[in-house]
Amino acid sequence: RLAWATKTQSVTTMANQEDEKIGSVKNQLAELFGASLRVTVPDEADVEPLVAACNNNFGDYQCNNAMSLWSKIKAKKPPFRGPPKLGEAIKDNLPASEMIESVSVAGAGFVNVVLSKNWMAKSIQKMLIEGIDTWAPKRPVKRAVVDFSSPNIAKEMHVGHLRSTIIGDTLARMLEFSNVEVLRRNHVGDWGTQFGMLIEFLFEKFPNFEDATETAIGDLQAFYKASKERFDSDPAFKERAQQAVVRLQGGEVRYRQAWAQICEISRNEFYKVYQRLGIHLEEKGESFYNPYIPGVIQALTEMGLVVESEGARVINVEGHNIPLIVVKSDGGFNYASTDLTALWYRLNEEKAEWIIYVTDVGQQQHFDMFFKAAKRAGWLPEDDSSYPKTSHVGFGLVLGEDGKRFRTRSSEVVRLVDLLDEAKTQSKEELMKRGKDKEWTEEEIESTAEAVGYGAVKYADLKNNRLTNYTFSFKQMLDDKGNTAVYLQYAHARICSIIRRSGKDIEELKKTGAVELGNDYERDLALHLLRFAEVVEEACTNLLPNVLCDYVFNLSEIFSKFYDKCKVVGTDEETSRLLLCEASGVVMRKCFDLLGITPVHRL
Ligand code: ARG
Repeated sequence: RLAWATKTQSVTTMANQEDEKIGSVKNQLAELFGASLRVTVPDEADVEPLVAACNNNFGDYQCNNAMSLWSKIKAKKPPFRGPPKLGEAIKDNLPASEMIESVSVAGAGFVNVVLSKNWMAKSIQKMLIEGIDTWAPKRPVKRAVVDFSSPNIAKEMHVGHLRSTIIGDTLARMLEFSNVEVLRRNHVGDWGTQFGMLIEFLFEKFPNFEDATETAIGDLQAFYKASKERFDSDPAFKERAQQAVVRLQGGEVRYRQAWAQICEISRNEFYKVYQRLGIHLEEKGESFYNPYIPGVIQALTEMGLVVESEGARVINVEGHNIPLIVVKSDGGFNYASTDLTALWYRLNEEKAEWIIYVTDVGQQQHFDMFFKAAKRAGWLPEDDSSYPKTSHVGFGLVLGEDGKRFRTRSSEVVRLVDLLDEAKTQSKEELMKRGKDKEWTEEEIESTAEAVGYGAVKYADLKNNRLTNYTFSFKQMLDDKGNTAVYLQYAHARICSIIRRSGKDIEELKKTGAVELGNDYERDLALHLLRFAEVVEEACTNLLPNVLCDYVFNLSEIFSKFYDKCKVVGTDEETSRLLLCEASGVVMRKCFDLLGITPVHRL
């Protein structure tokens, strides 16, 4: 019998709110404004401070509570008249802080903050000494599941799975950086009726299937296709395939073994791709949840959620004109029964508080339906802003340069390995063109071509808002100008080279030198660096990796401006400026790391 968590029990380790507030500059300011608001409007319970970065002549950050707060309290005849006066009061009640240089009120009560240069310089120096992890944002959850990649056995791993793999890995990395324990789940499609026809087909082709070599049956996709054709055209085969499903599900040894063998072959293929991309995943495929499905359906039935409909058993959910089928009319389970059960398992057995699913937007309805069913069951709170919670991270299509769905010339689905090979080959050619083959060892060329090539594929995907379709173009993604990973790699390599060529021991400088923000170029760069934590936080909260891509691209542009205007080596400011270069390098490498890109130190 399964242990059931009630709604209150399953809202487990809600980290306390205090915890959530430290971390980024934005949150530190929100703390201060929170304190001010408690004094300014003591009768209003928990007014959430609205603090945002801004880029104008008035300041670096802005608090804009005054307007909305005014409309809430004006009927109570407060001591101030209108939003500007309320803004003044918020300003006056702000606790003193070394972070702040000056505060002013503008327009309809916007409170603008100018950060102290001294504090900014000290913060950067502190990060250089104590490490970038001290800039990690905080999150209100301790454990999350990211369900990503999740290809299907014997079917092709296509570019859609590539997107899921890349986006999911980045989200996992950002959460991990934010001190969340992440269960990286590969929900492999390793169960289902397709195995019946595939196994039957393979038994026919290889009477001694057990002894068939991996190479003989290696091209599972082709066998899958052929077995499907057979299934559709030959009624006798269809009959046998259906019986094979029953035998497999009944646990007949020969069928089970064949199934395990097939899964193993596919798995080896998948993991080759993961290895090349430097991606770690832990497989708990659909079959893992099989033993739990009957118990979960039973419990949902006892709660009165499961009802009969046209021979099937279904859960009705709001906002959809079809119900969620959890037991098919033939008594079998389906994608939804497995997903509901996996969700139950993740909440109750794995104690995850945030469960994130990365698939194409085409599956949105499926996710929305079973999330709603879980809410009806009381597994999840109704309100999406509290935990535990589920999120579907949908993404658009990958298009070819002709604007149609991305295919190879023979119109087959693109194979991932070929794609990665091509990215590597093209960046290697580029390195040769630049004469690196004369300076570098073969090994250096190989590893650089991989870092640049695979990084380019990842970045080209991540830099777009994930919901939009994007065009896959090697030419575009391998361009060293514009918003590409190659451009960023050059920017990073340049920072490394500035430090190298200075001949200074940067580790020594960190300890003995000081950062000083003399001119605006230095200050702008420092401000952008200090925004790193809140950008990661935002990217995580909204599950949008492109936010981090924009940040790192802007960083390289702001750095360029700084380097253009501020001579580094041989000036009085040399030490401070070298430290700013180093800080830019550290933050840039962390961005690369979070995006799953290997940085190159020389290009
Ligand atoms: N195997 C599915 C597919 O290729 C994706 C699975 C996503 N995860 C999940 N829990 N449904 O479309």
